[in-house]
Amino acid sequence: MKGKKLSLKDRLIISLDTNNKSDVVSMCRKISSKVSTLKLGLELIYGVGLEVIDTVKSFGYKVMLDAKLLDIPNTVKSAAEAIGGLGVSAVTIHTLGGRQMLEQTREILEKQSELRAKFRPLLFGVTILTSLDDKDLKALGFKEDFLYSVLSLAGIAIDAGVDGIICSPNEVDAIRQKFGTGFYIATPGIRLPEDAAGDQKRINTPEEAMSRGADFIIVGRSIITRKDVGGTIDLYLEKIERTLGHA
Ligand code: C5P
Repeated sequence: MKGKKLSLKDRLIISLDTNNKSDVVSMCRKISSKVSTLKLGLELIYGVGLEVIDTVKSFGYKVMLDAKLLDIPNTVKSAAEAIGGLGVSAVTIHTLGGRQMLEQTREILEKQSELRAKFRPLLFGVTILTSLDDKDLKALGFKEDFLYSVLSLAGIAIDAGVDGIICSPNEVDAIRQKFGTGFYIATPGIRLPEDAAGDQKRINTPEEAMSRGADFIIVGRSIITRKDVGGTIDLYLEKIERTLGHA
């Protein structure tokens, strides 16, 4: 909902959840530029190294670096300064690190892009992982349910000036109701009705995510483990288009 108009291809972000380079190359080919952005996460950062960013960009894709930054403000700020030079379009940070960490990260990314006269990566704040439910949060010592925690964390992150929030599809409408439309929302935990949930607990369909107000959906296994990756992407894009057309 923020800023410039998104194309259909921008709205589906595919998560390359593998730890080896040959899978990345074969997946980049199979996806065949049907979407704009691929998400690279911890498996690839540690399994292949940051050079995987250039591999993916060489196929013409934009990169969301799912770095899930979480540490004291000084450490994360310094890491973000390095990330600012990697040429990625978006980077993720855990909102659990608190306001100061989020603010300092956004500031260093802004400063860097001014110095380099380049577009800065969008900063996306992860709220509560979609693999956790109320029972897990209680066990971790959270007193309130996940929706309360997601809303509190989203509020802190939006105040700190992040560009987007990452949450489950089921929380999008509550976040939009409370905080409006001046920021992006991206939702993992997306499944088609026939898909297994796997380790994800707060899941929903692409149609639900988009109709509740998500800008982007992030999809891993439901696409990359299919025999017909291209056909599944087309199906997802149709579902998104149809839902937005009716919105
Ligand atoms: O395979 P699946 O579609 O469940 O993959 C979801 C992707 O989104 C994974 O790469 C995971 O690390 C990421 N993610 C998530 N929950 C968050 C933030 C990111 O599942 N809150």
